[in-house]
Amino acid sequence: MTPDPIVNLPYFDGLLEQIDRGNAEALQAFGRHVHWGYWDDPAKADGSIAGFVAATEALCQRVCDAGQIGGGSRVLDCGCGFGGTIASLNERFSQMQLVGLNIDDRQLARARTEVQAQRDNTIAFVQGDACQLPFADGSFDVVLAVECIFHFPSRLRFFQEARRVLRSGGKLALCDFVPLSITLPLLKLMDQFAKSAIERTYGPVNSQVTIADYRTLATTAGFSPISTEDITRNTLPTYPLIRQLMRQTGTTEMEQVTQGGEWVSRLGLSRYLILAYEVC
Ligand SMILES: C[S@@+](CC[C@H](N)C(=O)[O-])C[C@H]1O[C@@H](n2cnc3c(N)ncnc32)[C@H](O)[C@@H]1O
Repeated sequence: MTPDPIVNLPYFDGLLEQIDRGNAEALQAFGRHVHWGYWDDPAKADGSIAGFVAATEALCQRVCDAGQIGGGSRVLDCGCGFGGTIASLNERFSQMQLVGLNIDDRQLARARTEVQAQRDNTIAFVQGDACQLPFADGSFDVVLAVECIFHFPSRLRFFQEARRVLRSGGKLALCDFVPLSITLPLLKLMDQFAKSAIERTYGPVNSQVTIADYRTLATTAGFSPISTEDITRNTLPTYPLIRQLMRQTGTTEMEQVTQGGEWVSRLGLSRYLILAYEVC
């Protein structure tokens, strides 16, 4: 029997504990999607949890649209969290074959309870590592990675695995925090100071991969780029809201780390990008 992988995601430990304890706000904010929000007009963000929930759904749909997903697609969502993206696709489209993959069985247990296939869709939630996909070659039309690639042990291995399981002409869409090349040395320096605090709160994170690195990754793995969308300003209302939730649950160190990330984004040192690629 294969041993369970070591899952080091302290923020999910905390979130699962809050959900178990019946924290209604944590459940409302993160019970479906566990990622940043997208506001069309950030000036109109009202700071409410309901507004945040709508914004997380908007971000998820934007990534799916970048992958050009339509009815009848076979979609693999890597790092699927509680299955929010699979749930959204299940609600919006028919004749879908939807697979959510996650390294963390605890999240999959919640996804299996919360997300049931509708109409003629099929859904499977599978435990595994996004860098060693347990699927046959050419089995999907679209592979997604919604705000999770920075946790994966290797972006190159993930790109190569996504390429392998996609059919010819298949699409890969993801969103990620991408530093500007010019600010990378400064960010690397800041990271040296913050590294252990980041690991204690968010687990292993690599946010030092630039858009030039992404170009190389795509070419090496056999993809050509379709689109790059910079949505940094549309995501900024996420920060005050999630910091407030963190303050309420006494997760001070996570709040400080998140505030660091907020300033990096507000100063434009790192960008929030939606990236999409096609199998060459
Ligand atoms: C910020 S959460 C995003 C969750 C989900 N995509 C969403 O948008 O709601 C990051 C996710 O990546 C998953 N993850 C981390 N490392 C992974 C790996 N090597 N393979 C698969 N999933 C992984 C985590 O368990 C977590 O569900």
